Amino acid sequence: MRSSALLYSALTALAQTAAAVTGAAEGFAKGVTGGGNASPVYPTTTAQLVSYLGDSQARVIMLDRTFDFTGTEGTATETGCAPWGTGSGCQTALNKNNWCTDYQPNAPKVSVKYDKAGVLGITVKSNKSLIGVGNKGVIKGKGIRMVSGVQNIIIQNVQITNLNPQYVWGGDAITLDNTDMIWIDHVTTSLIGRQHVVLGNNACGRVTISNSKFDGQSSWSATCNTYHYWGLYFTGSNDMITFKNNYIYHMSGRSPKVAGNTLLHAVNNYWHDSKGHAFELDAGGKVVVEGSVFQNVETPLEAGGAGKLFASSSTNAACSQYLGHACQANGFGSSGALSGSDTSFLSYFAGKNIASATDYNTAKNVINTAGSGKI
Ligand SMILES: *[C@@H]1O[C@H](CO)[C@@H](O)[C@H](O)[C@H]1NC(C)=O
Repeated sequence: MRSSALLYSALTALAQTAAAVTGAAEGFAKGVTGGGNASPVYPTTTAQLVSYLGDSQARVIMLDRTFDFTGTEGTATETGCAPWGTGSGCQTALNKNNWCTDYQPNAPKVSVKYDKAGVLGITVKSNKSLIGVGNKGVIKGKGIRMVSGVQNIIIQNVQITNLNPQYVWGGDAITLDNTDMIWIDHVTTSLIGRQHVVLGNNACGRVTISNSKFDGQSSWSATCNTYHYWGLYFTGSNDMITFKNNYIYHMSGRSPKVAGNTLLHAVNNYWHDSKGHAFELDAGGKVVVEGSVFQNVETPLEAGGAGKLFASSSTNAACSQYLGHACQANGFGSSGALSGSDTSFLSYFAGKNIASATDYNTAKNVINTAGSGKI
């Protein structure tokens, strides 16, 4: 009796371990619980997934297959535009919100045929954990969207792919706008039309993005060279983003763009193979970059931005008072420069949960650990 009871409880514990969040958020979103210990659900259809994510219950939602939204909302054929030319490697654009008409009046008009499901992400309500099983959790043809005051959400070990990659405005993989306590971990995004991650203009509060892979390889790009331009867009009002152990690969711009009133702690990330810029840092952006690697990145920081940057070329005690550790130097291989000595904003980190930092050499391993299917 006793041993079988023990065996039973051991098996139960194993099952619970397998159907739960792995680890915990570091940095600003520390303490996020998502669906907590709600009993896990395993959707089998796209409709069920949409329903679980969008209802008002705390949920742990396990993804053990590919959810293919392609075709679920039909296709549309419309007139768009070609601001970067009609070459086969160039993205063209949907006329979303009259973007072509208003902002690209001189661009050639082209016919665009796109999958309607890709344009707007799946609504995610508060208190949800969305967790991939092994390497099986894939959402194809639609992103995820956290807006309108939702909070306490964990997205872990999920791949989001194939959102009309040939078209600007074809879809964003992960959207946040008016949120708090969001943790994105071990997510991979690829073949995206617009932004891999976009934090909208409203406050997104405390966000941690960790161990994720943003893959910019595409046959269609705004720079017409297989490098995706629309990477990470961090321009909210009053956003606090911890960005740690991420792999940013094969992008040509906005990876990230930081503006609005965003406090960004970018630590131990690996930027790799970029034609164009990684950081675009505009007025209001406040950024610490430390312990990170820039390998074959043409322009780690776009010139002329009005944001504030601290990025030291050596271990620097200027951070100690407010971040609780000396800032780590960044490492550069066959890359342009990124440095900043503005300490005027470091006090904004005071009293917050701050992610730890290690030497940039340890960030070289991010190439092996970031993305879905790695936990
Ligand atoms: C989320 O969970 C917390 C804790 O159980 C609860 O207080 C809150 O009302 C929930 N939020 C929503 C929007 O359901």
